[in-house]
Amino acid sequence: MTVSSLRSSPEWKALASHWHGLRGTTLKELFAGDPARGTRLVVEGAGVYLDYSKNLVTADTLRLLQRLAKARGVFGRREAMFRGDRVNETEHRAVLHIALRAPRDERIVVDGKDVVPEVHAVLDRMAAFSEKVRSGEWRGHSGKPIRNVISIGIGGSDLGPVMAYEALKHYSRRDMTFRFVSNVDPTDFVEATADLDAAETLFIVCSKTFTTLETLANAHAARDWCLQALGGDEAAVAKHFVAVSTNADEVTKFGIDTDNMFGFWDWVGGRYSMDSAIGLSTMLAIGPAGFREMLAGFHAMDVHFRTAPPEKNLPVLMGLLSIWYNDFFGAQTVAVLPYAQYLKRFPAYLQQLTMESNGKHVTLGGAPVDCPTGPIYWGEPGTNGQHSFYQLIHQGTRLIPCDFIGFNQPLNAMAGQHDLLMANLFAQTEALAFGKPAEQVRREGTPQWLVPHRVCEGNRPTNTMLVERLTPRALGTLVALYEHSVFVQGALWHIDSFDQWGVELGKQLAKKVIPELQDRSEPSLQHDSSTNALIRRYRRGRERAE
Ligand code: F6P
Repeated sequence: MTVSSLRSSPEWKALASHWHGLRGTTLKELFAGDPARGTRLVVEGAGVYLDYSKNLVTADTLRLLQRLAKARGVFGRREAMFRGDRVNETEHRAVLHIALRAPRDERIVVDGKDVVPEVHAVLDRMAAFSEKVRSGEWRGHSGKPIRNVISIGIGGSDLGPVMAYEALKHYSRRDMTFRFVSNVDPTDFVEATADLDAAETLFIVCSKTFTTLETLANAHAARDWCLQALGGDEAAVAKHFVAVSTNADEVTKFGIDTDNMFGFWDWVGGRYSMDSAIGLSTMLAIGPAGFREMLAGFHAMDVHFRTAPPEKNLPVLMGLLSIWYNDFFGAQTVAVLPYAQYLKRFPAYLQQLTMESNGKHVTLGGAPVDCPTGPIYWGEPGTNGQHSFYQLIHQGTRLIPCDFIGFNQPLNAMAGQHDLLMANLFAQTEALAFGKPAEQVRREGTPQWLVPHRVCEGNRPTNTMLVERLTPRALGTLVALYEHSVFVQGALWHIDSFDQWGVELGKQLAKKVIPELQDRSEPSLQHDSSTNALIRRYRRGRERAE
């Protein structure tokens, strides 16, 4: 693909000059000028209602953003992804997480082979296994049923499963314990297993490559812990360990029989894998029917993304709005604020999805990008965030576009309390948009010296997503919405949203440092003076403890 500079394109220049013209326009004015704005700038798809009226945009902004997307080939690239082209160019791979949730009768061909039957074969095996564990038919080495499931993985092999377990806890088996171990810090493993009986514990070792340092270290720790508790009989491994991976050879080397392995494919990126076998813990928690419901939600959003007209397309709009603030307003971050305690890990999950995908400094062609990419995603569930960092969003000097997510129906009783939660969501988006001007502060009898401190300028942009109820299906639609919004942004920037070379350097250096920490004799260190001194100090400190 030949890539022209983004900034020098006529579509970009038109947006830049439009942005200059729009500066100073307030949301208050935009709403006053169009009484129907709050019902006009909304779009609904796959069960998600998106109100984007409280954004600093006009009809012209939206038209120009769509024109830019078209000129940059976003829609052609979307088709290429759905078709199974190798859109992950630096790894020469297709990007087909959409195949993970394709219905049985769909055909998606990669290298001349329809991959949908394989996807469903794995799902069926996962379902059969989950039923055995959930029903108690699957027994541990000593004959006890499985009551504890520990999923070991990191990054995309952990964040999705943790997030989904927390998000769908309402639907999960309460008589089973689910835990997740990711950090190579031994504390993670020790605390996760401290109160568990190995005889009732199943480990799922999740690693696409099955070579990841952290995951293998924890998997070996789990094996030792299990065998020690169960009398050292190697045969116990078959009853207490299953693997999820694309790498059968490494799984076998570790000692897990491939009969107990659930596979996936190189066309599934780690951060796009929570709906593959990597989600086995989710299926064990909510059951196969719930998992399929979640996949149906993902698929509904896929269909919406592929077929809805661009101006009514949720991921297209969200992606373009993100570009608008990131590249024109210079906003560096996006806050994701779910008004649902069950979504407490959703912002952390989105951090990998968005930042590992779009944190890139060169285009597909290898040229430096000429505008900022990948905004920083962060957030916390409301209302907790309100009593913490919202102050900066309301009155700080930075522009922080926010995504608010709420549900019409509560999952837990105390409906009155759900109203309190949602009242806060609505109040926050109103306050951020319209603020509190000085005249109003004065009218309330505030002494003049205090007035500037109490003024809220408003004009802080927000998206509000409303969904009926937090179901497995709804979770699938929300995740797919962000996946595709990330895609739109990356496609517009002409970057590879599906590789992650940046994490490799640190991994390589850590491999070099490990023996320098572990050697009994003083190593000859060849790092910079800071790293050398830190390693020496650590070695001395550790020796004092020995
Ligand atoms: O952190 C880099 C990364 O490669 C992620 O992209 C991936 O999700 C994670 O490591 C785990 O990799 P694996 O599933 O191969 O263990």
